[in-house]
Amino acid sequence: MKGQRDQHRLLLQRWRIFFSGHSSYHIKLLVLVAILLSTALLARRASSLMGWRHGTAECQDRMRQRYTVLINTWKRNDLLKKSVAHYSTCKGIDAFRVVWSEPEMPSSELHLALLDSIAKNRRGSRAPELHFDINREDNLNNRFKPSKGLTTDAVFSVDDDVLVSCGTMAFAFNVWLSARDTMVGFVPRMHWVQSKSQIPAQTTYKYGGWWTVWWTGSYSMVLSKVAFFHKKYLELYTHQMPRIIRNYVANERNCEDIAMSFLVANATGGPPIWVKGRIVEIGSSGISSLTDHNHKRSRCLNYFTTLFGGMPLVATSVKAVNSKREWSW
Ligand SMILES: *[C@@H]1O[C@H](CO)[C@@H](O)[C@H](O)[C@H]1NC(C)=O
Repeated sequence: MKGQRDQHRLLLQRWRIFFSGHSSYHIKLLVLVAILLSTALLARRASSLMGWRHGTAECQDRMRQRYTVLINTWKRNDLLKKSVAHYSTCKGIDAFRVVWSEPEMPSSELHLALLDSIAKNRRGSRAPELHFDINREDNLNNRFKPSKGLTTDAVFSVDDDVLVSCGTMAFAFNVWLSARDTMVGFVPRMHWVQSKSQIPAQTTYKYGGWWTVWWTGSYSMVLSKVAFFHKKYLELYTHQMPRIIRNYVANERNCEDIAMSFLVANATGGPPIWVKGRIVEIGSSGISSLTDHNHKRSRCLNYFTTLFGGMPLVATSVKAVNSKREWSW
């Protein structure tokens, strides 16, 4: 009888020692971890039982998870073929739309070659569609004409001689998905104040090429020759933006990308996003190698500023990088 009571007392003492050794904080933490673990396990089971992973919501979202590649080409069929062959190896492409600006229709040989490389490289159940947007006259504004039958919200606008790896594309598209009104691209450019005026529309600006962006880390535009943006901007560019700007672009054969940057900045009030990634230019370098290129670009900046009633571009130094590829914080 007495021995049993002593045993009980001993047990009670041990418990007290155990609990005094572990503060209530520790025990709460232990309980919390146990609850979280079992909740996570249950949730996983429930979601796979209820088919959340394979449900219909995902099907409906698919169009939101895909993008259209809008390729601007001009008399360079070999580059166009290379470009389509490359991009058709990438996932997430709903359709290719080729902006064609020549008096002759695309040849059936070209058409078949493109279809062939799309079919050959197709990933998943459905190969991307192929459309030609035919323009008989050559006009830089063609590339921003709203394309009939363009179903995705996201447009990847690209020149026929610019290649980006599929991994980099997928990453940039993800950046765009988290900022769907913003232009997301790989080639940053900057506007610098040249002389300040009290009247915003009279302040003058200088165009900053890659060198000044590299030197300062600041930019306010990403060039539309390789960028993601929402399809609504095609509509705005072609039907809402003052015609005088499109006329200027057509006559000068330049600055359609600056006009698009102004338009998006004016609509969002914010800067674009520069994504880290290497682009490969397979054609010969075009107008940007001319010596008066920056001068012309500065003139566009100043002309558009007066037409917009002020400078809409917003500078930033934010650069999106893939954290899986970065070693340090
Ligand atoms: C700039 O944005 C405002 C407000 O959305 C709009 O009313 C105006 O037409 C835009 N300016 C130009 C030149 O597109």
